[in-house]
Amino acid sequence: MSSDSATLTLGNKVYDLSRKSGTVGPDVLDISKLYGETGVFTYDPGFTSTASCESRITYIDGEEGTLLYRGFPISQLAEQGDFLETCYLLLYGELPTQQQKADFDYRVTHHTMLHEQMTRFYSGFRRDAHPMAVMCGVVGALSAFYHDSTDISDPHQRMVASIRMIAKMPTIAAMAYKYHIGQPFMYPRNDLDYAANFLYMCFAVPCVEYRVNPVLARAMDRIMILHADHEQNASTSTVRLAGSSGANPFACIAAGIACLWGPAHGGANEAALNMLAEIGTVDRIPEYIARAKDKDDPFRLMGFGHRVYKNYDPRAKIMQKTCHEVLAEVGINDNPLLDVALELERIALEDEFFVEKKLYPNIDFYSGITLSALGFPTTMFTVLFAVSRTIGWIAQWKEMIEDPQQKIGRPRQLYTGAAQRDYVPISMRK
Ligand code: SDX
Repeated sequence: MSSDSATLTLGNKVYDLSRKSGTVGPDVLDISKLYGETGVFTYDPGFTSTASCESRITYIDGEEGTLLYRGFPISQLAEQGDFLETCYLLLYGELPTQQQKADFDYRVTHHTMLHEQMTRFYSGFRRDAHPMAVMCGVVGALSAFYHDSTDISDPHQRMVASIRMIAKMPTIAAMAYKYHIGQPFMYPRNDLDYAANFLYMCFAVPCVEYRVNPVLARAMDRIMILHADHEQNASTSTVRLAGSSGANPFACIAAGIACLWGPAHGGANEAALNMLAEIGTVDRIPEYIARAKDKDDPFRLMGFGHRVYKNYDPRAKIMQKTCHEVLAEVGINDNPLLDVALELERIALEDEFFVEKKLYPNIDFYSGITLSALGFPTTMFTVLFAVSRTIGWIAQWKEMIEDPQQKIGRPRQLYTGAAQRDYVPISMRK
């Protein structure tokens, strides 16, 4: 990587800052010694201009609207590969050979069952508990069962924990859904591929033969590829920060799930579908566009805008295409929510406010309609995001653990609270 320096002048002193270039993307200024040399911190709430790490996994060009997993464009992976191939790529850095793919698929398939005692956690929840609450609890509890893969200093244990997480997340998610709707759990089947097995565990019931629709399974698999990883987003940064303390991988993934739940992040797919349902009809769109523009109204168009993409989210384009495929396959010819979504997108892309602020549909804008057409309730949308993003969290966690520069993450602050003062006995307080 090429590098030259930048200088910082503080008072009458000039400091050199090392400038580093990556393969592609913006250069960085290394400020890791800044406080030690100058006594000042940098200040960047929300980390809008801060790189937290060096990574080789995923690259986003927000201006171009491109997304690369280990250098491969998301559109090529989504169209030509499958989700477990993407998992292998994100984890190990290269596309697998046929033998490597067969071995990886076999290992994942043969770790999809849960320890039988874990099924008892579900009965402790209310039936109407949000499935994301169940996911936080059950995934965190994995570390109570799999002690032989919690030593993060052991590469073998890290690999075992990674395979277990990838393999068991669909089972845990499907069981959360079944518990939510009061149906019996369906155990994983080794004769089905990853996405088909997930749909089977969600929608099959013991009393009747269930055939997974291959078109819907392919759509589910592609949706998982689209959600697999996305640089240092909020939940991935949460997983890295939790992992930097040496916490076990299951606890780190549970922390990522908790962060993903927020409506500004992974919860946006649920919020976007609820918004489309609230708008209801095309003629009510102008009212919501006006609200989105109103600075005094906290309302935001859910599924629009992105911290990095200042162009169309490439995943949204593929998701829109998948949405049409799924609707056609399930025989939904007229979908009022899709009509509202398409018209809302058309208006927003022409509206000066959204154009100026570079607000485009993101992955969450069409995913809700698609997942709803697949048969999932809105409460399951972020769960599906978590199932898909687990590989990204695991790959980023593994990269962080194996980074020789890795140390515990501990940001500083700009303190604006009270200066030191003496205690006042309660009898003397006014
Ligand atoms: C995901 O980081 C990732 O990579 C995340 C993700 C991933 O794969 O991990 O891509 C997944 O989280 C996608 C984003 C899903 N969230 C939503 O769809 C929720 C709605 N979007 C917004 O909340 C917002 O766009 C964010 C949170 C996504 C991004 O917010 P930023 O980067 O902090 O931008 P901002 O809030 O500073 O907004 C910039 C301006 C503001 O106006 P001003 O203060 O400059 O006047 O744009 C406005 C905002 O008010 N704005 C919106 C808007 N999003 C931003 N106005 C109306 N509707 C919106 N959706």
